[in-house]
Amino acid sequence: MNTDGPDPSTPILLFDSGVGGLTVLAELRRILPDAPVIYAADNAGLPYGEKSEAQIAARVAGLLGRMTERLHPRLACIACNTASTIALDAVREVLEIPIVGTVPAIKPAAAMTRSGVIGLLGTEATIRQGYVDRLEARFASDKTLLRLAAPELVAAAEARLRGERVDEAVIERTVAALRAMPGGEEIDTVVLACTHFPLVEPELAAAFGPGVQFVHGAEGIARRIASLTEGQKFRRDREDLALFTRDGETIEAYRDGLASYGLTRIEGF
Ligand code: DGL
Repeated sequence: MNTDGPDPSTPILLFDSGVGGLTVLAELRRILPDAPVIYAADNAGLPYGEKSEAQIAARVAGLLGRMTERLHPRLACIACNTASTIALDAVREVLEIPIVGTVPAIKPAAAMTRSGVIGLLGTEATIRQGYVDRLEARFASDKTLLRLAAPELVAAAEARLRGERVDEAVIERTVAALRAMPGGEEIDTVVLACTHFPLVEPELAAAFGPGVQFVHGAEGIARRIASLTEGQKFRRDREDLALFTRDGETIEAYRDGLASYGLTRIEGF
């Protein structure tokens, strides 16, 4: 990179398996309103949460490699806990631009809880990661962390972006399953360890009832991106682009939802 930094119209790439990364985009817009963004969703691979580590690592590293080559972003953000907890190191090893990952917000949750019991909602793949064990050992060893895989919430969040009603039964089932774990009644803080889940936070909050606070990484990630690009110039001289690995009819349903995040150009990748 030369001392003037990248050209002002050089984009920031946000990557997720679906629409979850939009929760990061919303925060990024607040902090860096002029930053050009390309939002890339690997909807052909959705859901990542049900894939193996090897499948996720190969997919994410391969796609981000191809996207970086073609789109020349100044920075890439893996706006997905599943992909980050599995593939962040591999991606950092092969790409030369700064890579920002998304990790479960266990550290802030440990500072926030009063009861000492934290719930963590993530995908099946995320909750079994050593990465999460290490965060728990480092920041919450004196707390109880109850992890629950909530794959149905990914589908609920996708439905919300298509303008569909969120299925209350899905929300109720998830909350009841977390409460039913030993100590679950004491939960006062819930980590939304999947970028999709803040999209259904109002429904989760209603189902948990008063006295439960939620924490996720979107704001911290946006701040990290801002700090890594500090001093660089930004210019959004056209509408931001959304890329989908599976294009076609299914994307039409997302058009209005994406437009509400300022993504009005939609293309296949
Ligand atoms: N948004 C992704 C995450 O943060 C997961 C969704 C999926 O299962 O693909 O983990």
